[in-house]
Amino acid sequence: MTVTDVIDRVSFMDFEPATASFRDDVLAGLSHPIRRIPCKYLYDAAGAALFERICELPEYYPTRTELAMLQRLGPEIAALAGPEAQVVEFGTGDGRKSRLLLNALDRPASYVSIDISRDQLIREAAALALDMPQIEVMAVCGDYTQQTLSLPTVGRRRVGFFPGSTIGNLTPVAATAFLARCANMLPGGAMLVGVDIPKDIAVLEAAYNDSAGVTAAFSLNLLARINRELGGTFDLSGFRHYAYFNEDQSKIEIFLISQREQRAAVAGRFFHFRAGERIHIEDSYKLAPATFQNMARAAGFEPTQVWVDPDGLFSLHWLLAPL
Ligand SMILES: C[S@@+](CC[C@H](N)C(=O)[O-])C[C@H]1O[C@@H](n2cnc3c(N)ncnc32)[C@H](O)[C@@H]1O
Repeated sequence: MTVTDVIDRVSFMDFEPATASFRDDVLAGLSHPIRRIPCKYLYDAAGAALFERICELPEYYPTRTELAMLQRLGPEIAALAGPEAQVVEFGTGDGRKSRLLLNALDRPASYVSIDISRDQLIREAAALALDMPQIEVMAVCGDYTQQTLSLPTVGRRRVGFFPGSTIGNLTPVAATAFLARCANMLPGGAMLVGVDIPKDIAVLEAAYNDSAGVTAAFSLNLLARINRELGGTFDLSGFRHYAYFNEDQSKIEIFLISQREQRAAVAGRFFHFRAGERIHIEDSYKLAPATFQNMARAAGFEPTQVWVDPDGLFSLHWLLAPL
């Protein structure tokens, strides 16, 4: 399917960060004393495909747990959302959860899908528009932490949707700021957020160090992307994926670790790496339900329902936005 076919059925807004932003962020991050690259760059087309595989892994409990919760809670969520809602999703990914939610709701009027991963966004929005022709679909490619969207209102009430515990990829300060902007975007509406819960360290660490090595491939794809798009010269075999649970801060931290002394060029600049030197590429905060509710309150939402699966692994939160 071409972009033109999609644009016929889906309104498409393109705020994809330019290659120059990617280059500037990578150069700045690698020049920093503690080297780091923002995790939003993990999701090019190859990264998005690898993340879909992560979601199927036996160790990766969040996806299947949240899918089962959405399935079970559909009628309750539909009653809270009310009829003819306008669903606004942040970080849609493969859209499986979007479909579950939209199918559960009472005659949803419109659906806005926001994601930085352009190819996957267009593909999934087009497929959804074909399968659910009664819903008006809008796809927005961009960084939801930067983009302030003024959306046309189609439907009775706006309902934000932020599944996947993607909120945990933001620091608590950034997550609160992001939620505050969501509250402004959803006046008088509501927001459904999926949040991963602190748990046994072995379970957490296994989820980010799967035995098939898919998460490692997902992390290393960031260097491959730099090679593809920024004229990088990283030797992927010279780096290793490393994820561990930082108990003090209740977050999984993910790094790429240089396996030897080496250097690599990015956009014409050379960077030297010592053996054992780390590049930070992702955090995944694990938040107890009460901790997340306090964060939502600080952002201006009124948290109401919170649901936890029977094994206590994952939570879903219903938040009310002020008028
Ligand atoms: C952890 S995945 C979750 C995908 C899906 N919602 C799920 O629950 O399986 C994060 C998704 O958010 C998107 N994403 C990450 N950072 C983003 C950003 N700053 N702006 C927009 N989309 C972003 C990624 O492309 C990816 O689709």
